[in-house]
Amino acid sequence: MTNVTMTVNGKSVSGNVEGRTLLSSFLRDDLRLTGTHVGCDTSQCGACVVHVDGLSVKACTMLAAEADGAEVKTIEGMANADGSLSVIQQAFQDHHGLQCGFCTPGMVMTAAALLKENPKPSETEVRDYLEGNICRCTGYHNIVKAIMAASGQDVSAIAAE
Ligand code: FES
Ligand code: FES
Repeated sequence: MTNVTMTVNGKSVSGNVEGRTLLSSFLRDDLRLTGTHVGCDTSQCGACVVHVDGLSVKACTMLAAEADGAEVKTIEGMANADGSLSVIQQAFQDHHGLQCGFCTPGMVMTAAALLKENPKPSETEVRDYLEGNICRCTGYHNIVKAIMAASGQDVSAIAAE
């Protein structure tokens, strides 16, 4: 076992992990931050996306030990300080950017990374960036619309689905 310490959603946390423990398992099983979902465990679905040192990472592709010393942000850290929804979360709610919600945490984390890199993405750029995130409910249309709305763009011309 190895001791790891990292900052998760602004709080310093530590724990003992096996060398093979994935960051997704550490977050969910040890820290009980179950908002990070695991849909495939094989780096395909994007449900487990978190931010590590400001970059979006599929938490099932990284060992917990590799995140030792890192700054990690999960969906639980995305709301505003007063507990209200962040702009991106609110946009997902306003534009029905979810159906069952399983992919939503990963979609929101990926969207946040996109808007940091590219504050006003085109529809094509949003769709390209979401390439690593699968929505099994196939609700992509409203997810894209929500992300564009969160970027402050007028989405009234994009038809509702
Ligand atoms: S659970 Fe990590 S990509 Fe699917
Ligand atoms: S809303 Fe169900 S998987 Fe995306």
